[in-house]
Amino acid sequence: MIITVHSYKGGTGKTLLSLNIAAMLANRDKKTCLLDLDFRAPSLGAILKTGKSEYWLNDYLNKACEIGRVLRDCSSYCIAEGKLFVGFANPSTEAIREMASKDRKWEMEALCRLLLLKKSLLERLGFDYVIFDTSPGLEYSSMNTIVTADFVFVVTTLDKSDVEGTQRMIREFYELFNKKTWVIFNKTLQSFLPLERKLESLQLPIVEAIPCSCDILSSEEAYFFASKKPNHIFTKTLQKIVSRIS
Ligand SMILES: Nc1ncnc2c1ncn2[C@@H]1O[C@H](COP(=O)(O)OP(=O)(O)OP(=O)(O)O)[C@@H](O)[C@H]1O
Ligand SMILES: [Mg+2]
Repeated sequence: MIITVHSYKGGTGKTLLSLNIAAMLANRDKKTCLLDLDFRAPSLGAILKTGKSEYWLNDYLNKACEIGRVLRDCSSYCIAEGKLFVGFANPSTEAIREMASKDRKWEMEALCRLLLLKKSLLERLGFDYVIFDTSPGLEYSSMNTIVTADFVFVVTTLDKSDVEGTQRMIREFYELFNKKTWVIFNKTLQSFLPLERKLESLQLPIVEAIPCSCDILSSEEAYFFASKKPNHIFTKTLQKIVSRIS
């Protein structure tokens, strides 16, 4: 299954959730692949401290290599025996500018490459789950990841413009492509009862609300929070989400 983690606005928690969901799936003995498809601001390489890659996802989309040359075994980040492979985006300034200058024709070809990638990862390489961490908004590159996905998690905060943008994206885009979508409200306040009523009134396919946690903000290894703090409300809520898909 391909899961795209997307949002309308930036900074909602896509990368944090993608990485922790991928690690949780791998810990459940699912062969999992996490791809950094945020070419605007690649971040997984810095978080996982993997250094320079010989090939990047940029090269795969540019038809310069096959996906096997891009994926790196990051299973050592799992607490159990799980298998976690990661594909990184090139973080160099030159590569970011190059990807930002791609035209519509290139993006159409990139969509074909992504659809091929889906087949290779699920059928040939036998991955159970592939998580796409994406850029926010409605740019072509993000739209391509949504078209390719079987399932979309949209991560939003309770910020009014974020909620309205999310509602619009679902109505005008995801539904058009018939994508199964779940909305994750992230960084909510802890008091759940008034929040629950508020969320109900939005009439969105809400899966869970994840509280904003100072423990995450103050943690030196925030992006590995779930494996470090298995009993934390953040981890328990993500576990519930993962149980629904696995
Ligand atoms: N529930 C939460 N509680 C506290 N901090 C959080 C929570 N979720 C995310 N964060 C923090 O918010 C910041 C942004 O998170 P992250 O980088 O995952 O967002 P993003 O959606 O991937 O951003 P971008 O759109 O720029 O790629 C990080 O510092 C992260 O640790
Ligand atoms: Mg991100």
